[in-house]
Amino acid sequence: MPAPKEFLDFVDNNADAFVKRLSEAVSIKSVSGDASYRPEVFKMSDWISQQFKAVGVQIEQVDLGKHVMDGQELQLPKAVLGRLGNDPNKKTVLVYGHFDVQPANLSDGWNTDPFVLTVQPNGQLVGRGSSDDKGPVLGWLNVLQYHHDTKKELPVNFRCCFEGMEENGSEGLDELVERESKPGGWFDGVDCVCISDNYWLNTRTPVLTYGLRGLGYYKLNITGPARDLHSGVFGRTVHEPMTDLIKLMSTLVDVNGKILIPGVDEMVMTADVQERRLYEALDYSIKDVEESAGAPIALSSDKVEVLMGRMRMPSLSLHGIEGAFYGPGAKTVIPAKVSGKFSIRLVPPQTPENILPLVKAHVESEFAKLGSKNKFELEQLHGGKPWVTDINHWNFQAARTATKSIYNKDPDMTREGGSIPVTLTFAEALGVNVLLLPMGRGDDGAHSTNEKLDRSNFIEGTKLLGSYLYEVAAISTQ
Ligand code: BES
Ligand code: MN
Ligand code: MN
Repeated sequence: MPAPKEFLDFVDNNADAFVKRLSEAVSIKSVSGDASYRPEVFKMSDWISQQFKAVGVQIEQVDLGKHVMDGQELQLPKAVLGRLGNDPNKKTVLVYGHFDVQPANLSDGWNTDPFVLTVQPNGQLVGRGSSDDKGPVLGWLNVLQYHHDTKKELPVNFRCCFEGMEENGSEGLDELVERESKPGGWFDGVDCVCISDNYWLNTRTPVLTYGLRGLGYYKLNITGPARDLHSGVFGRTVHEPMTDLIKLMSTLVDVNGKILIPGVDEMVMTADVQERRLYEALDYSIKDVEESAGAPIALSSDKVEVLMGRMRMPSLSLHGIEGAFYGPGAKTVIPAKVSGKFSIRLVPPQTPENILPLVKAHVESEFAKLGSKNKFELEQLHGGKPWVTDINHWNFQAARTATKSIYNKDPDMTREGGSIPVTLTFAEALGVNVLLLPMGRGDDGAHSTNEKLDRSNFIEGTKLLGSYLYEVAAISTQ
């Protein structure tokens, strides 16, 4: 049962209004990782709630309590739970998305104000959150708009769960999902989950995604002198925290991406010929990765190696050093306290819990080798488990049929290198299949400057999400 033609026409006819609504969403600076923006994340929770209420969804905003971020106690933004339809003869679909965004400043190198959605002549809608993840969340809203305005019944029972802390490790959400998955909870009776919060591999071919990497995020703190020191006075006189930290960080990963922490890479089985074929079959080239990275710097010239590095291998990235001198001029300081941040993207069977002891043992033994008198400490900031699912499930079949009907093309099946911490929680708490059905393209630049969503992806993506619901319904009545 493909989506009715009236639905597809409605989406085309209302495209301008949909873009306008996206620009309203983008104008709310819901940056979850920066305490000074927290009121805007609250505002976004309210805005999303109002929008979904207006198309007939019963909404509850759930208080998730407080958390501590950068030493400050803060109220968490309320999660938005929604319900529309309770027909026992229909399948019940739960959709998840997030309404918080990454930080963005014009001075980071944006060509336009990141919180003003700018429509480019080539059809790109540029603004923070356009692709990650406000566009896709509004895609669901657009679908409901049609059914509300035309008084057409939805083909499925709809449930939604939108959160405002995803970019900061989804704090408080696991507990909510577990609670609401029990009998009588908001997610009781859910038959499948659909998450639209990732991207195509390239700019041409739609994909369905069956895996995500997990994440362990760590901070190495090194302290020594009681205050910052003059390097002319104390250089070659005391143990310097920054020197220790750089040595330590250099023992984590080599320049080709191999993880040097004993036991981490070894947990993952090598791919057999059959698995390599899956990657060989994907519409992807070294040119695609180099174009999206903006430079010819791929780790290998072999497409399969590059794809496996992103999709089925763990990776370790060094992110930054807090407390290091950073600024204009050539300050001759010995920083007193420095913290190195790094993270490891995890794949099954790795979890933040089984990786932490390996990280801890490694950095402790490497620090001991330095013979430094400085003080050293390892912290885990946040974590998320990896997830892989079965692509032969009817949930994926429905999405495949829907993709073919909208894009006239078979989707590629991908695993993502990124993380959505709550995915495995949904799968385990509900015991149902989870599907990732992305809207945006591989070059959208999520988290980067000039993040964009192509207008065609927003509009066709809205049709795709709607069609997917019709295809799910078709399977339930077969
Ligand atoms: N939408 C992304 C997840 C994602 C990233 C999917 C890359 C596909 C490719 C999500 O908003 C995100 O950024 N997640 C964070 C999670 C982290 C803070 C726990 C990530 O992956 O860094
Ligand atoms: Mn996202
Ligand atoms: Mn993100």
